[in-house]
Amino acid sequence: MPRQVVLLLSGPNLNLLGTRQPEIYGTDTLLDHVQAARRAATERGWDLEHRQSNHEGDLVDAVQSGIGRVEAIVVNPGALTHYGWSLHDALAAFDGPVVELHLSEPSEREPWRHTSVVEPLAAARVAGEGGAGYPRAVTLAIEAAEAARVAVPKPTADQ
Ligand code: DQA
Repeated sequence: MPRQVVLLLSGPNLNLLGTRQPEIYGTDTLLDHVQAARRAATERGWDLEHRQSNHEGDLVDAVQSGIGRVEAIVVNPGALTHYGWSLHDALAAFDGPVVELHLSEPSEREPWRHTSVVEPLAAARVAGEGGAGYPRAVTLAIEAAEAARVAVPKPTADQ
């Protein structure tokens, strides 16, 4: 069986989770969230890779390195959600499902957070569920990838 991999990407400042504005983002660390996300993947027979960066170009590189290699991407882009057009373009070049993930619900916060450059290309969006959103987003990404696989017609012997 091919290796089934979902790539989880974490944008700027998410490395500070646990101590960063706990009244908004909670007290769990990024590692706690990654572990919960990985458990959800493992339960379905998938592997999960994680990459966090405070730099948009690193996240672009991570998406590019996933093209043709991972089947789905879950991304919490942090503030890049609202203006990260090169991350948008990299995700648009990715050939599998993308799930947008946020701990908080940006659309209920300051007006500048109401725009998401990722949302138009996301197969699903999970926001405002706190840490519970991590395993849910991974499950949605895996389900979308598996559904896309089923949808691809198998070539017949004479093709
Ligand atoms: C966030 C929401 C963003 O607006 C913010 O810049 C973040 C975290 C979230 O998970 O709720 O860094 O993506």
